[in-house]
Amino acid sequence: MSIRVSPSAEATPAEAREKRVFVKSFGCQMNVYDSQRMTDIALKEGYRETADIADADLVVFNTCHIRERASEKLYSELGKAREIKQDRAALGRSTQLVVAGCVAQAEGNEILRRQNAVDVVVGPQNYHRLPDLLRAGRAVVDTDFGLDDKFDALPAPSRQAVRARGVSAFVTVQEGCDKFCAFCVVPYTRGAEASRPAGKILAEIARLAEAGAREFTLIGQNVNAYRDGEGEVLAGLLAAAARLPGVVRLRYSTSHPNDMDEALIEAHVDNPKLAPYLHLPVQSGSDRILKAMNRRHDAAAYLDIVARARRARPDIALSSDFIVGFPGETEVDFEATLSLVRQVGFASAFAFKYSSRPGTPAAEAGDQVPAHVKEERLKRLQELLEGQRQAFNRATIGARFGVIFDKTGRHPGQLIGRSPYMQAVFADAPPDAIGRMSQVEVIDVRPNSLKGRLVEAQQSEET
Ligand code: 5AD
Ligand code: SF4
Repeated sequence: MSIRVSPSAEATPAEAREKRVFVKSFGCQMNVYDSQRMTDIALKEGYRETADIADADLVVFNTCHIRERASEKLYSELGKAREIKQDRAALGRSTQLVVAGCVAQAEGNEILRRQNAVDVVVGPQNYHRLPDLLRAGRAVVDTDFGLDDKFDALPAPSRQAVRARGVSAFVTVQEGCDKFCAFCVVPYTRGAEASRPAGKILAEIARLAEAGAREFTLIGQNVNAYRDGEGEVLAGLLAAAARLPGVVRLRYSTSHPNDMDEALIEAHVDNPKLAPYLHLPVQSGSDRILKAMNRRHDAAAYLDIVARARRARPDIALSSDFIVGFPGETEVDFEATLSLVRQVGFASAFAFKYSSRPGTPAAEAGDQVPAHVKEERLKRLQELLEGQRQAFNRATIGARFGVIFDKTGRHPGQLIGRSPYMQAVFADAPPDAIGRMSQVEVIDVRPNSLKGRLVEAQQSEET
């Protein structure tokens, strides 16, 4: 590893005891996981967590680079953090400011140049070295892709930290991406596809379950490309995880159509703990645009996976990501996307306007789509998707399923959890139902949640 030191940035003095850490996560679930692990590092270093940035001796922004506004948001947060740092300095309190994540990886020294209040810039593969970086005493940038195993170097979360995070836990099983979609920065910021050994993942899940976690989402940029050195694949990993004591429900995200094998589809039949939910980004319904995006699959291949998944598990909730206004996208291409959406019928989905990311092939394309066209297409697509989401929600009225309640609701006596299909569900339930699978019947639909009532448990461990 090499740590580049910027001589221009100011030094930060060593800290006294009772220090506080504030971590803010932007972007995807992988960042949520990384943020928790950075919090674990800080806790082990003697910090306490705070939700008040002004009270923090250590501030970590775990950043996302996937779309433009994400990095703009970071620079505005950093401006505010700089003022807080100055106010604290006036009171004789020092503050270390860390930028982690994908913007850190992509922009490196540029971050120090744009905001000299920053002390550490650390990429997603290097944050296990945070203690050393914080002790460097000068501004440092650490964004090399190291060969050492980050996961081995990370401290296990304390039981207290697991409890505070609730019964639903993320576990990173795979990182990076070799797909190089023409619009995407991930292969550059997260590096090549790499899977963690199954044994280590299962040990981590077992530890989290032992500390009270019940619902586990196995995450990776291309989670269904998971294959460890022993040849274990995602379906096998999910089967092994399902056998661990305390594991009640399993999910995985995000999958790529080209890695959707039969074993994983079958897992939705064979593995009773696996939730009937599949997030499978398609990005576009136009074969011409899919080709320009370098997706290496066409719309028919996607529809075929959807049909196979539904044959295996008829109630499966499908979710996706879409990009509108990719360079060269015509009205006809866009209508092919609307047509694909109509054919599938999604339970939920995310739609984004294409945003040009420096260094990606699509950023060089000459035929960029005007902003007002992207805006108008986004609106049409979102309207269609929102209608499908509401229809899916309405169709669950009267359904009974298991919900693992994980927090209290807005009104006294209410608890909130997620349905097998990822919808938020609230119901009147005793506080000790938190962390257990309760059987719920859906009695009403709200704009962003389902209202349920508790019913007698029949098969407590099933979805
Ligand atoms: N512009 C817009 N959306 C993007 N995504 C990735 N890169 C871009 C980009 N340059 C979207 C994709 C991906 C999701 C996580 O973010 O839809 O699946
Ligand atoms: Fe980005 Fe494509 Fe890889 Fe997904 S599959 S992370 S969109 S390059």
